[in-house]
Amino acid sequence: MISVKNLSKSYDRISYAVDDISFNVNPGEILILAGESGCGKTTTLKMINRLIEPSSGEIIVNDVNILDLNPVELRRRIGYVFQEIGLFPHMTISENVGIVPKLLGWSRANIKARVDELMELTGLDPDKYAQKMPSELSGGQKQRVGVARALAARPDVMLMDEPFGALDPITRSGIQDEFKNLQTELKLTVIMVTHDMMEALILADHVAIMQEGKIVVMGTPGELMSKAGDAYAERLLHAPRQQSEKLAEILKRGDKK
Ligand SMILES: Nc1ncnc2c1ncn2[C@@H]1O[C@H](COP(=O)(O)OP(=O)(O)OP(=O)(O)O)[C@@H](O)[C@H]1O
Ligand SMILES: [Mg+2]
Repeated sequence: MISVKNLSKSYDRISYAVDDISFNVNPGEILILAGESGCGKTTTLKMINRLIEPSSGEIIVNDVNILDLNPVELRRRIGYVFQEIGLFPHMTISENVGIVPKLLGWSRANIKARVDELMELTGLDPDKYAQKMPSELSGGQKQRVGVARALAARPDVMLMDEPFGALDPITRSGIQDEFKNLQTELKLTVIMVTHDMMEALILADHVAIMQEGKIVVMGTPGELMSKAGDAYAERLLHAPRQQSEKLAEILKRGDKK
């Protein structure tokens, strides 16, 4: 469904923020791009939504080269959740969620029905929150609004840039579970960016680990947990492996008592 071939981006014509990366994402699957700050994750995601023009390479979504689509059609097909959420501070929650349908010229009644539906779907009571401003919401609630807004025009592809960053671990784990259920139900194809290797391993069908603009390793969580085969990736995977071994040990001890 999504096919990225030899994609590169140089901002300064000297160095590459994204350096010749290629990958495929099957329909209904989640690919997670992981790697440390500045390795090119956001640049990759933004190129797929044409918020940034590639220096070279090809991006095919549903057999169509996205450079051939007009931006409005592209935004309808692809939902985007921004790093730092990016809600419009002067608009109510309901206006934020309904922005893409409004740009697409939906009727007021259709927009209202869709906004209510999405707020319920993402666990925000419309009666309580629709008329509030973003500044009146908690971090977790704002993240939900970001996801609801990205789903508004019924895209089949979602690009999500650290959608659950800046949440405490319990809220984060709850939202991860809810999102995974929603993603399965709506059969969404997702590319998600995260710093958190544990999150990547739990949510992804495939994980691509990036370093300095390149994908150094790509595989299923199971493959990466058993052997990543790259020194940098092995370093990133060390902590999740150690934690899961410790937990397994604690559980085993618990059985014997
Ligand atoms: N608009 C821009 N102009 C010039 N350089 C940029 C621009 N945006 C990003 N860069 C550079 O490109 C590189 C990759 O940035 P990118 O935002 O893709 O990283 P990232 O992996 O998303 O990092 P983070 O985890 O901190 O969000 C960085 O070195 C960054 O400084
Ligand atoms: Mg980023």
